[in-house]
Amino acid sequence: MEIISTVKGLRTAVAAARQAGKVVGLVPTMGALHAGHLSLIERARKECDFVVVSIFVNPTQFNNANDLATYPRTLEADCALIETVGVDVAFAPTVEEVYPEPDTRVFDLGPVAEVMEGAMRPGHFNGVCQVVSKLFDFVNPDKAYFGEKDFQQIAVIRRMVELLGLKLEIVACPIKREADGLALSSRNVRLSAEQRAIAPQIHEVLAENVSLVDEGITDVDALQEMVETELNAIDGMEVEYYEIVDPVTLQPAATISGAVGCVTVWMGDVRLIDNIKYPTL
Ligand code: PAJ
Repeated sequence: MEIISTVKGLRTAVAAARQAGKVVGLVPTMGALHAGHLSLIERARKECDFVVVSIFVNPTQFNNANDLATYPRTLEADCALIETVGVDVAFAPTVEEVYPEPDTRVFDLGPVAEVMEGAMRPGHFNGVCQVVSKLFDFVNPDKAYFGEKDFQQIAVIRRMVELLGLKLEIVACPIKREADGLALSSRNVRLSAEQRAIAPQIHEVLAENVSLVDEGITDVDALQEMVETELNAIDGMEVEYYEIVDPVTLQPAATISGAVGCVTVWMGDVRLIDNIKYPTL
């Protein structure tokens, strides 16, 4: 595995792979890698001949200076971990390398970026698009891999790809969970032992709600309210939002069939997100 920190070096390495006729895959990350990230990399490894993993804590997508300052940076451990799964290039640039000058681009992302995370974290998705569009330009991948853990992020990136007229495939990968159901996240380590013990109830409540649909309860508002009430009733959890949405437009679902339920829960000062798919009726 080559560890590259310059855009020039990255372009050269990818050009050589392309010259050799290889299919190029990109897995963008912010580091602090865990098995969730590895599942994306493994998928890329299966489907591509040349895999680039970017490790870059992108300042423009943080709307909270403290969140950016405290984001875990574990480059050495990250490189050691991904080396074991057959990555060709780890791209770990500095902020100056990615942003030699301030990025003032504003993406017209439309309704997908206005709800949920877009409403709660102003500017977040614009920053995500700034960095991901740059990574797409540096690597020009055939396929790029994203996790459904950040369900709305995938919809936003698909919108950006359409907006910029890019020709690459966005591959959505399923959420990787702990054995007890908690979605893997770099934020989980910030939970206290007590918080960690109850955190799996987020997925439990969502999964139970989905199973109600099979029992004939299909009213979107009623299902949504049940999740909110049940999670808020758990000591130490506070729901920021639970929205049952259309999986493409991310707008409130007209029917439960094929919808996705997206949740954000605060546990103390830790903000956890998760989501679940409802059955197609
Ligand atoms: P980061 O939070 O590091 O996540 C990198 C990728 O890993 C994202 O596509 C995310 O959805 C995926 N991921 C995280 N936890 C997962 C889990 N439990 N199961 C499956 N996939 C999971 O998302 C970002 O970074 C940034 O916004 C980025 C796209 C890199 C742009 O800066």
